[in-house]
Amino acid sequence: MKDIQNVLVVGAGVMGHGLAQTFALNNLDVFLIDKDRELLDRAEVWIRENLEFMVELNLLQPQGVEDALRRISTTTDLDDSAGKADYVLEAVSENLDLKKEIFKQLGAAAGPDIILATNTSSYDINELAAVTLHPERVLGTHWFHPPSITPAVEIIPADATSEQTVNTAIAFMESIGKFPTMCKSTPGFVANRIQFAMAAEALAIVQEGLASPEEVDRIVKSSFGFRLSAFGPFEIIDQAGLDTYRAIFEYLYDKLGREQFRPPQILNDLIEQGRLGLKNGKGFYDHKDGAAEVLKQKRDSRLSARLNIFRNENQGGEHV
Ligand SMILES: NC(=O)c1ccc[n+]([C@@H]2O[C@H](COP(=O)([O-])OP(=O)(O)OC[C@H]3O[C@@H](n4cnc5c(N)ncnc54)[C@H](O)[C@@H]3O)[C@@H](O)[C@H]2O)c1
Repeated sequence: MKDIQNVLVVGAGVMGHGLAQTFALNNLDVFLIDKDRELLDRAEVWIRENLEFMVELNLLQPQGVEDALRRISTTTDLDDSAGKADYVLEAVSENLDLKKEIFKQLGAAAGPDIILATNTSSYDINELAAVTLHPERVLGTHWFHPPSITPAVEIIPADATSEQTVNTAIAFMESIGKFPTMCKSTPGFVANRIQFAMAAEALAIVQEGLASPEEVDRIVKSSFGFRLSAFGPFEIIDQAGLDTYRAIFEYLYDKLGREQFRPPQILNDLIEQGRLGLKNGKGFYDHKDGAAEVLKQKRDSRLSARLNIFRNENQGGEHV
């Protein structure tokens, strides 16, 4: 694989402009493509505004605005820029036929060893690899909005994707400060499957008249949402206790009768093996000698740091 210096971002919308900005801020040269000049001009305005706000926040020196903008070339010529790029990230609208067309074109126009990544939120990466020349260099790299700030990138190989492609993409994401994690190519990958399960319940609660959108947002932000940037769901289940979780699942399933609350088999199995979580030193994780105490301290120090930010942000009781 070539060293990566020139990145092509296809699609200059909500994600594409932020992706171009992120690469440029990491001293990479960027080609940013969209269908017409008007959309590219709009993207340039958005990027400038974002960068100027970074200066206001003291995250960027004033000179950094022009430096980053100079690194971004906007164009409608996909074949020419694909021929010059060392890495391609497709971020056009979520439309499978459109993405297949773009991958066919990219496969022919980019060099055979150039990684072709898609930012799709939902499509099976195999569908795109199947229409592309040299499918071993195709993979999903699912970023999150706003891409210049949110750390996660889900790394999703197709069946044909080579190990070298995966390793290079991971190393590239890490080199620009991202937090890549491997996922299988299944609907919603990992993050969106969880996020949409939560959205479905939040919407149902409002639809059933049990709480207003403002009340749901306030409760989520100040409860489990507050914890989620410090600890993932399995770390949280371990802290709360697997048996406690099962008891709540049982009650919810009994009262609400919805399949998503049926106590999961994986929970039953672990409880049967005597794994109750932090309280007895083993749950989804092993908390060996003293680890439980360390984890409790880590919990309290991380959450206390977040509590200060939370109080500052919520003093006025604003929603957004
Ligand atoms: N918006 C999000 O929060 C988010 C988060 C993660 C992933 N994604 C994914 O990223 C991709 C882009 O999403 P978005 O929110 O930026 O969409 P968007 O609609 O804001 O932008 C898509 C851009 O693609 C352009 N486009 C369409 N056809 C094109 C073509 N033939 N050539 C070049 N450009 C073309 C459109 O003109 C538009 O500017 C989607 O696959 C989406 O699922 C979005």
